Amino acid sequence: MAGGAILPPGGGSGKEYPGKFTGRVFFTCIIAATGGLIFGYDLGISGGVTSMDSFLEKFFPDVYRKEISIKPSDNQYCKFDSQKLTFFTSSLYLAALVSSLVASPVTRLFGRRLTMMFGGLLFAIGALLNGFAQDLAMLYIGRILLGCGVGAANQSVPIYLSEMAPFKYRGALNIMFQITVTFGIFVANLLNYFTAKIKDGWGWRLSLGGAFVPGVIICLGSLCLSDTPNSLIERGKLDEAKDLLKKIRGIDNIDEEFHDLVAASEASKLVKHPWRDILKRKHRPQLSFAILIPAFQQLTGVNVFVFYAPVLFKSMGFGNNASLISSMITSIGIFIGAIVSSLTAVMTIAIGVKFGTSGNPGELPMWYAAVLVVAMCIYIAGFGWSWGPLGWLVPSEIFPLEIRSAAQSINVAVNMIFTFAVAQAFTKMLCHLKFGLFIFFASCVAVMTIFVYNLLPETKGVPIEAMTIVWKNHPYWSKFVKDEDTEDYEMATKAGSV
Ligand code: BGC
Repeated sequence: MAGGAILPPGGGSGKEYPGKFTGRVFFTCIIAATGGLIFGYDLGISGGVTSMDSFLEKFFPDVYRKEISIKPSDNQYCKFDSQKLTFFTSSLYLAALVSSLVASPVTRLFGRRLTMMFGGLLFAIGALLNGFAQDLAMLYIGRILLGCGVGAANQSVPIYLSEMAPFKYRGALNIMFQITVTFGIFVANLLNYFTAKIKDGWGWRLSLGGAFVPGVIICLGSLCLSDTPNSLIERGKLDEAKDLLKKIRGIDNIDEEFHDLVAASEASKLVKHPWRDILKRKHRPQLSFAILIPAFQQLTGVNVFVFYAPVLFKSMGFGNNASLISSMITSIGIFIGAIVSSLTAVMTIAIGVKFGTSGNPGELPMWYAAVLVVAMCIYIAGFGWSWGPLGWLVPSEIFPLEIRSAAQSINVAVNMIFTFAVAQAFTKMLCHLKFGLFIFFASCVAVMTIFVYNLLPETKGVPIEAMTIVWKNHPYWSKFVKDEDTEDYEMATKAGSV
């Protein structure tokens, strides 16, 4: 990622480990990245389901009555304004927040792989409860279990990917997480489009119960994975870690990397209380980014589109079918955007301006609707290129081993708090701010772009266990990291004694 400081290759760490990009690493990372599917599926499914009349009628009859009784001259921005309904969407993220905190000691003590497996299991059970839901209680309990699954997976998968990848390809492999998140969003929207057409209105059961499939995929997938060398070393399985490192790097000469991983692990063992340690001044740069990156990611407003695209399109005067098609098109935009794109802030403004000039929406002319959908696609593709993948990549690679699990939990928890807040506040904000909502998000994007440009150092090409050096060499953050803070690691790696 672009930063203020220009650093030499390796971030000044002087490290260049030998090794190949092996098929084994690639397939392992693909399986692990399917953890993103469960997150994406959830993000994508609730918007379409909450706009299905049969679902609203069964669980939220007051919203349904309001929706069908609203006249074209009434304020359309407020027709889905119900805290109970938004809580259906947002409750999952509160549960994910709590479970990501619990997942921290679990990933540290039992490994990344087991945390993923456990997450998949909870997710699959939650999906079944939702699919067979008879009342609001079953619906909410299911959502909570789904949230626990998401929290565990989001805590462990990005770390898993960053630790498995050879340092030169860490960014590329970690981005698979975002690709599977966006693929999950797309599949969910596609499914909603078809299930909404099912006669007798039980299609929402299929949409919600469909989450069982990605849950089982990650659960079974992680059974086939080995844990990361870093985690094996952290848990004292040195021989296993060495063999694994040889296999995943495709060479026998892994001594330098192995040695540095052991050194980092030894240094991390001196830290008995990671949650206390993370508050120390030397970790101020990492703590700042563990909080700000996920907060910023959510302040792009991306989830307004992800969760509420169908509701949003309906508010703007699209019919039922057109709303689902449009959100499906937007989700293709998200998916493609995870592979290519830019222009986030500009497009948020464009969407705001379009809303602003359209007055109180009701019926939209075709060309107008098309411009709006295209603007949303470009905006969302821009996110997919920037804040989407980097929001998960950067935090997973900047923390030293001793605080990695705790810091990743902070990252996931902050992400979930903001996801929850945006999801919960959205219908109220739309109702009161109208198009100003989009101008608000555009201003956030402008501020955070300046922040990241100036303060986030380049992490590309720096081995994960040598990352402290990046902060030490940064013009601003260097004042927080003293020489003695990196001494343990530097001495151990130089001495070759561990
Ligand atoms: C974000 C989600 C978002 C998704 C959209 C992820 O990186 O964390 O909140 O819905 O990207 O692509």
